[in-house]
Amino acid sequence: MNTLKNKSFLKLLDLSSEEIAYLLDLAAELNAKKKAGIPHRLCEGKSIALIFEKTSTRTRCAFEVAAADLGMHPTYLDPSGSQIGKKESIADTARVLGRMYDAIEYRGFGQEIVEKLSEYAGVPVYNGLTNEFHPTQILADFLTIREHFGSLAGKKLVYMGDARYNMGNSLMVGCAKMGMHFVACAPKKYFPNAELIAQCQAIAKQTGAVLEFIEDPMEATKNADVIYTDVWVSMGEPDEVWEERIRDLTPYRVTSELMQNAGEQCRFMHCLPAFHDLNTTIGKQIHDKFGIDCMEVTDEVFESALSIVFDEAENRMHTIKAVIAATLSNS
Ligand code: CP
Ligand code: NVA
Repeated sequence: MNTLKNKSFLKLLDLSSEEIAYLLDLAAELNAKKKAGIPHRLCEGKSIALIFEKTSTRTRCAFEVAAADLGMHPTYLDPSGSQIGKKESIADTARVLGRMYDAIEYRGFGQEIVEKLSEYAGVPVYNGLTNEFHPTQILADFLTIREHFGSLAGKKLVYMGDARYNMGNSLMVGCAKMGMHFVACAPKKYFPNAELIAQCQAIAKQTGAVLEFIEDPMEATKNADVIYTDVWVSMGEPDEVWEERIRDLTPYRVTSELMQNAGEQCRFMHCLPAFHDLNTTIGKQIHDKFGIDCMEVTDEVFESALSIVFDEAENRMHTIKAVIAATLSNS
């Protein structure tokens, strides 16, 4: 049953396990329809505003293609091309866009901004990434895990790296909700904050999830089904943090040795973009300054058959489509 109609999608903590499972089922159904060429214009005639205060490839494209497939009209507002924050408050922006659009997507900084947009907009608001959470990404990750392993409950996902930020936080919440085995593997200071861990442990008690926080990479990755990582420095963070992150997180890079330690069932996942070679401007700059040719994952692992990152990227579109359809569909 769909209990998400007309609701915002701001963070996974707001959804029940059943609602997350519903979205994954719907995404799989919409994926099958798209592949079979069956039209699914479930939101015909509606419109959506896409606010991006940070850059994006996957999230923007996923929202635009999903909206088009659903029969909707999207408007993209880029990081510099609107009045938001500079001349117009979030509350005023929400009330203006809420009069013109049927839904609003927001990517930007603090979680409180997307929460405020939702409070004032009067239409569903979707979180396309904040500093604290990236919930649409987790839906894509879980759909991908389901496709590869058949189910989510009991699967062991090890997150390597800065687990205090949007990806570590959201994966921990998602794994807690879906009865999975989540391990954050990093130096202690990169573990999620104590309050969020306590909230997730309470959820885990009800779902049978296991949450662990381990500093040793070999111990953490033993028998992992998924080893997951993300960039060491996120959008919006100052350049000064690079040196410390490289020093602290180099032992947590995903290598072939780590994948072998996990076992042959293990797959590699990453929300992307990834620093795995020198084919980017930042990759080259970091190489020139620090002498390294990859960061959170080696090119060998990224390009290996164990890497399912492009299935994961495709699933951004199917899962975002499910969120829009569940909250806005005409039927
Ligand atoms: N994974 C992800 O959110 O990618 P983009 O930053 O390209 O949207
Ligand atoms: N932690 C990364 C995720 C990018 C999808 C960032 O916020 O930049």
